[in-house]
Amino acid sequence: PLIVVLNGPNLNMLGLRQPDIYGEATLDDVEQLCLQAAERLDVTIDFRQTNGEGELVSWVQECRGRASGIVINPAAYGHTSIALLDALLAVELPVIEVHMSNIHRREAFRHHTYVSQAARGVICGLGIRGYAHALQAVADMIEDEG
Ligand code: DQA
Repeated sequence: PLIVVLNGPNLNMLGLRQPDIYGEATLDDVEQLCLQAAERLDVTIDFRQTNGEGELVSWVQECRGRASGIVINPAAYGHTSIALLDALLAVELPVIEVHMSNIHRREAFRHHTYVSQAARGVICGLGIRGYAHALQAVADMIEDEG
């Protein structure tokens, strides 16, 4: 099965960006961690990042009929984008939302995410490891639901 791992805006800056909050690992390190998890779980992944809201929406749409599940760190678009929520609702696939930081310990504007309404589960505060946990969860859902 194919699991698409989508990353939103500014995550290309990982490692450089607020390392006190997000750590020193880069997005390449996150991709390596996901590839290792995928091998263990016997799934294929397609790992992507974009700064564009429209591109993220298009990538979600393309998952329909092509992928078996989605792991998404929507970054700031999680807090703002109804378009992204609608796209995730339209694909009818298991979705797990990931945030590296614990968004509930941060500014109030990060406490709500639209994307959560389309997610089976949300992982936050576990750093980049959260992606591996999310892949495990989606792989389990795919297996359980055939
Ligand atoms: C983030 C949390 C968001 O609030 C923030 O806008 C990000 C990263 C995280 O992974 O912790 O860009 O999604």
